[in-house]
Amino acid sequence: MTPHNEANKGDYADTVLLPGDPLRAKWIAETFFDEPRQVNAVRNCLGFTGSWKGKPVSVQATGMGQPSTAIYVHELLDVYGAKKLIRVGTCGGLNAKVKVRDLVIGLAATTDSAVNSATFGRYHYAPFADFEMVRAATDIAAERKLPCHVGGMVSSDEFYALEGPKVYEILTAHGVLGVEMEAAAIYTLAARFGARAMVVCTMSDCLITGDQIDAKARQSSLSEMVELALDVAAGQA
Ligand code: HPA
Repeated sequence: MTPHNEANKGDYADTVLLPGDPLRAKWIAETFFDEPRQVNAVRNCLGFTGSWKGKPVSVQATGMGQPSTAIYVHELLDVYGAKKLIRVGTCGGLNAKVKVRDLVIGLAATTDSAVNSATFGRYHYAPFADFEMVRAATDIAAERKLPCHVGGMVSSDEFYALEGPKVYEILTAHGVLGVEMEAAAIYTLAARFGARAMVVCTMSDCLITGDQIDAKARQSSLSEMVELALDVAAGQA
């Protein structure tokens, strides 16, 4: 048990899916898991464990942003022994080649967050994904003909930046594909604890074109993304 998690040691599987939204965690457990059981409800930041294709798997909501995410992820790694983390989320699009509904896998995550800069002294650490997980995910996406981009993400501390979307222009100019708010902390903590992590997002709103996903497409692309994430989890040693 921790101040933020009432689960006992052993309640989480080695692999944990990480949506931001607690109700999405519940939906993932109820829709995809065999024999789901709730393991955490502190602050309604729900966590569940069950199985997928016979392999144990968990899902834990992170809340929004790196400070919240870092609490749940740190404890999953440090207290509960998680080994593989897969964030399943949405991102804003920063490159016109990424269409609404497309998957974006964060190979690396730039950030403006003190969650990273406070820790690294003179260095600007470059948080990065686990290569084998990314390779498995891109193989599955290709097999299923899911449009999928692999590249840089930015994990922003502000959804509503004072400067507006132009704050991201410098990152678009350096090939960054999408903006979300959690990946950098997940990658950094996974590295710190010798674990592996990957972030996959559905592009939900393009900051370049203004295109937005509609409710129906959001639901079906979410299902495809979660199945892909679960198959990456189940297919790996
Ligand atoms: N900014 C940050 N996070 C997001 C966005 C965005 O525009 N869209 C989806 N997640």
